[in-house]
Formats: sequence, C-alpha cells, structure tokens
Amino acid sequence: MTDHAGVMQRALDLAWRGWGRVHPNPLVGAVVLDRAGDVVGEGWHAEYGGHHGERVALDAAGERARGGTLVVSLEPCNHLGKQPPCTETIVAAGITRVVYALDDPNPAAAGGAGTLRAAGVAVDAGVRQAEAAAQNAQFLGRWRTPDRPWVALKLATSMDGRIADRSGRSRWISGEPAREYVHWLRAGMDAIGVGGATARADDPSLTVRGAIEPRTAPLRVVFDRAGNLPTTLRVLQTAAAQPTCVVAGALLSGERAAAIEATSARLIRSQSLRAGLAALRRAGVASILVEGGGQLAGALLAEGLVDRFYWIQSPLWLGERGVPAVGGWSGVELASAERWTVVERRALGADTLLVADRG
Ligand SMILES: NC(=O)c1ccc[n+]([C@@H]2O[C@H](COP(=O)([O-])OP(=O)(O)OC[C@H]3O[C@@H](n4cnc5c(N)ncnc54)[C@H](OP(=O)(O)O)[C@@H]3O)[C@@H](O)[C@H]2O)c1
Repeated sequence: MTDHAGVMQRALDLAWRGWGRVHPNPLVGAVVLDRAGDVVGEGWHAEYGGHHGERVALDAAGERARGGTLVVSLEPCNHLGKQPPCTETIVAAGITRVVYALDDPNPAAAGGAGTLRAAGVAVDAGVRQAEAAAQNAQFLGRWRTPDRPWVALKLATSMDGRIADRSGRSRWISGEPAREYVHWLRAGMDAIGVGGATARADDPSLTVRGAIEPRTAPLRVVFDRAGNLPTTLRVLQTAAAQPTCVVAGALLSGERAAAIEATSARLIRSQSLRAGLAALRRAGVASILVEGGGQLAGALLAEGLVDRFYWIQSPLWLGERGVPAVGGWSGVELASAERWTVVERRALGADTLLVADRG
C-alpha cells in the first residue's frame, strides 16, 4: 500500500521551489505514481502564469501516468485561467486516482474534485491538509481576510524578549543564517513593513538580497502616523527606483506630506492601522511581512491584525532596558489569551526559528 502522506510531503517540498516566483498564485507541488506506486513524474508551479504543478508532473510522466495516481498539494483547478483546467489534463492523462491536500479556496477555480469524480477518477482530499494550509497561508488569506493583507510579523529577539539593546541598537541580534532566512522570506511577500522608529533608528533598505530573485520586488512600507521621516532615509532616497509607501495618519501636515511625496514614495493617509492596511490591500498588497519594531508589533497585536509570527530567538540577554518585542499593548488576562498554533520550529545556526499562526 502506497504511503500517500509520505508522497504528499514530497509534493509539499517541491511546491516551495515556487516561493518568490508564483504569488499571488498558490505554491503547488505534484508527484505522479504509476500503477505499481513508483514515482514516474514530479513537478511544481514555478512561475506566475506558467504551467501548473500537475501539468508539469504529468508531462514528466508521459504515458507512464496512465492508470496511475496524482498526488498534489492543492485541489486541481477547474477553470480556464492563464492555463487550461488541470482537471481536463488529469483525465486526458489517464490518471485514475487523485490525492490532494487542500481545497482550493478560490471560487473561480474550486470544484475540481467534483469534476474529477464525475469523470470517474477516485479522489482523496485532506492528506497533510494542515501542512499545506500553513504553506499556502498567504494564498488562503486572500479569501479569509479580503479587506486587508495577510499580515506576518517577524522579530529577532534576545532570550528575554528584547529587540534592541538599551541604546536602541539591534544589529545584529541574530546570526548570518537567520538573516539569510529573512531574505528568503521577504522574496515571497508583496510588501515589507517597519515602524517609523525602526526606519529612523536602523535606516534599513528593506530589499531582497538573498538567493531568490522575487518576480516582483516587494513594496517597502513605513508606518508612521506623524509622517516624521527624514527624506535622507535610505527607503525614501531610493523610492524612485524601488516601490515605497508611507502609511501616515489622517492628520499629517501638508508640509510633511509634500516632503514624502517629493521622494516618489506613495503616501497613504489613514485613520487607523486597520484602515491603512485596507488601503494597502486595495493597492494590490495581499501579504505583508512586518519586521518591527515593538510599538508597531504591539499596535498590530492589540487590534488582532497579525496572522502569523516568525520569531527568531537568539541566545543572548539584553535586560530590562532593552527595547521590548511588543510595546504599548496592555495585554489580556491569561484565561482569555489566544493560544496560537505552531507550524514550524527549527534551528537557524545558533538561533531558533518558531513560526506560529493565529487560531
Ligand atoms: N530585532 C528586531 O527584529 C527589530 C526589528 C525592528 C526594529 N528593531 C529595533 O526596535 C527599535 C524601534 O522599535 P520601537 O518599538 O521603538 O518602534 P517601531 O515599532 O519601529 O516604531 C513605532 C512607530 O510606529 C508608528 N506607528 C504607526 N501606526 C501606529 C499605531 N497605530 N500605533 C503605534 N505606532 C504606530 C509610530 O509612529 P507615530 O507615533 O508617528 O504613529 C512610530 O514611529 C529600534 O531600536 C530598532 O533597532 C529591532
């Protein structure tokens, strides 16, 4: 008996190869097994607008797919988009069983399982569903929170939960492998955000400088209600070449607004953090990685606006006067504290990565 969960793990591993290249489409990996259960084809969705993972795996398998099983991380699509419906391709290839992990949340593409069953193909849904949902959290977020982007918070902290020392210095709390990981992470996001104090203290460039060249450079976003940002900041200096946006408060002075706009950065004025995020979503941002600081993290958490937390924890202590990872949020009673779901834990050199989803 074939271990479909094990093969699904392989499909999920293959799907990651599309990271940075396929969003806002989902990550999809696929494996074709012949009648004997041997792997005869593998594929993944590698490029936005390009062939879907199923099609790539079936092309690799050729005639050996006939009578075989397709194991795929997302329900095969049922609609004519940039590519023909995968359901048609699967039936034409002679596949007799499809095993998939996650239902397609896109109403335009969903229904693939029903179409396949109607064509006489056996369908098993939900294999490694939780892992597949965690992998495609941003894609699922497009439907779960249609009024705002999927928001991920990333912080590098000391063991005592500080994101900078008592002088405000945070470079570097984490080591090289963790910083490489962050560049990988950025590549798969529509936007990267920081609070104004972080922009002023660290003057980050917020670009992707890792192994993956993203299909489109993430929008750089600075949240600062007062719009009190020196135009000498790196993100503003380079705003003509790299998409940049400042999310400021509704009461921003005309003078500050003009100074920001003169840099070519886009300016969003909003009444609240939630309204600012909604404006970003309307501008096409479906996912944002917020990289601190603590005040912005606290404001987002207080309003229930964080969907995922990437926590890089480093083996050092910074003490009480260091900058807290979460600031300005008075918190909740233990009895009503939300317990998040850990979706990943691993070592990044000497540091530890923990990824947790809300709910
Ligand atoms: N280790 C790490 O991962 C990491 C990451 C980032 C930063 N850091 C360090 O953290 C320090 C800065 O962090 P921080 O906590 O002081 O500040 P911060 O969170 O970077 O910045 C707070 C900013 O957010 C703005 N903001 C916009 N909307 C807000 C809202 N609704 N509520 C609250 N603030 C809002 C505030 O501007 P207005 O008051 O004008 O609204 C303020 O400029 C620096 O020392 C930096 O080096 C470390």
